[in-house]
Amino acid sequence: MSEAPKGLKKGLTNYGDQGFSLFLRKAFIKGAGYTDDALDRPVIGITNTGSSFNPCHGNMPQLIEAVRRGIMLAGGLPMDFPTISVHESFSAPTSMYLRNLMSMDTEEMVRAQPMDAVVLIGGCDKTVPAQLMGAASAGIPAIQLITGSMLTGSHRSERVGACTDCRRYWGKFRAEEIGDEEIADVNNQLVASVGTCSVMGTASTMACVAEALGMTVPGGASPPAVTADRIRIAEQTGAQAVQLARQGLTIDKILTPAAFENALRVLLAIGGSTNGIVHLTAIAGRMGIDIDLAGLDRMGTQTPVLVDLKPSGQHYMEDFHKAGGMATLLRELKPLLRLQALTVTGRTLGEEIERFGPGFAQDVVRPLGHPIYPQGGLAVLRGNLAPGGAVIKQSAADPALMEHEGRAVVFENSEDLANRIDSDALDVAADDILVLKNIGPKGAPGMPEAGYIPIPRKLAKAGVKDIVRVSDGRMSGTAFGTIVLHVTPEAAVGGPLAHVRSGDRIRLSVKNREIALLVSDEELARRAKENPVTEPTAERGYRKLFLQAVTQADKGVDFDFLRAPRSVGKAPE
Ligand code: FES
Repeated sequence: MSEAPKGLKKGLTNYGDQGFSLFLRKAFIKGAGYTDDALDRPVIGITNTGSSFNPCHGNMPQLIEAVRRGIMLAGGLPMDFPTISVHESFSAPTSMYLRNLMSMDTEEMVRAQPMDAVVLIGGCDKTVPAQLMGAASAGIPAIQLITGSMLTGSHRSERVGACTDCRRYWGKFRAEEIGDEEIADVNNQLVASVGTCSVMGTASTMACVAEALGMTVPGGASPPAVTADRIRIAEQTGAQAVQLARQGLTIDKILTPAAFENALRVLLAIGGSTNGIVHLTAIAGRMGIDIDLAGLDRMGTQTPVLVDLKPSGQHYMEDFHKAGGMATLLRELKPLLRLQALTVTGRTLGEEIERFGPGFAQDVVRPLGHPIYPQGGLAVLRGNLAPGGAVIKQSAADPALMEHEGRAVVFENSEDLANRIDSDALDVAADDILVLKNIGPKGAPGMPEAGYIPIPRKLAKAGVKDIVRVSDGRMSGTAFGTIVLHVTPEAAVGGPLAHVRSGDRIRLSVKNREIALLVSDEELARRAKENPVTEPTAERGYRKLFLQAVTQADKGVDFDFLRAPRSVGKAPE
């Protein structure tokens, strides 16, 4: 059997004459000044996701330069190419709406262009998941490079960073504790450099998860964006990509059920973003691996939160890096990890942990026996309000509200919320439960991070800091509160959430993993008949594709046609 084509010989345009296709391709690329010697080397693609609209990727030029250096030192030929870039604050209607598009762009450009391995450079929340989803489907050797976190700033001598502190200060402003001048001052300090959010939000979560999956070089998750450590990681990543290409170590050998189990374990132990579950489900789905929510919840009961980072704890990503980053965490978690899982170095996770050597005194990652929070950061809830499941970040919730029954105060959609939440006429009390419908995958569309429903202004002014909130949307990993998210099925497809009315009673019991609407099945059926739900549609374009193909939160909000055609396993196994 002839060997599969490599390097520039891959994926030739079909003119019916392969020799001519290669001749033509080389003629074009030589227009950029390449020699035959360069063109005979392993070709390593580098995704360039730099954009003026994406300051989280603002170090892209330096990273690409370092990756290219690493590739050339290892004897490869670097070829960077653009894909779309998605930033949280510059992606209407929501970045999640564009994640699958970015994954398709990544997959198809990796497939279309001749490369033996690819370096994926991403950082802002949706980019790393999108790249891993795309690369998983493309199937070639791939390695993730994280852009790195931003530095923290200082506001009147108080250390601040995006975006837990953004929310905290905005909360103070809403409660009229601070005025226009101070809120303008703090706005200058929250993002002190390029790079991703500095707390354990979704970006940091996905960075740690990518390393736990074995998809980055060791230590790849934590160096801040503007540090020499980050540039060194970029150089190492480039060099490792050449080794991956030479060994033919394709992504399916890394992204196994054991790797996803390790990623879920880390997600729980870092008190990571609830978005991590959705993204891991989508990435695993591309490999034909199902994430078992019940299994994840069981893992949560055995996995304490060890990392003391905001929003669950005190510190920032740069502190996590100084404390040894993932090496420190993985060393602690070792008894709970699947150590035989292979990583992009060609070594197993267990071997990498051995190579880390002994730890040192630090106060950011706690020992297993002295955790920040005794259980994993996330809990999976079920009940008649969420037959397909819902999640709560218990480590960021108010313990006093985790066993709570209250009266529902319902908002039909984001617009209804915006119109009424600050009204003095709103009938709401601190022990009520705020319910927001129609912010699920199809509802908004794109499942925006609107699940962090603001405290009604009149309650905020009275000093209320938390209230139980329930929705079919997501929330930013930087947010905190007793907030039930990802209610599945969503209201827009006729889930029970669609039929909740103000005045109904809702019971939340994190202990029993329950979210229950205290309304009879008969009454719910009557309401469904009285007010049937019409699913949203669109006439053309990406929105039409999105609304036709997007799956619910328990399937990762991926497009149904992008999932692997067959299931090959589940995680945890
Ligand atoms: Fe990009 Fe937070 S906005 S990581």
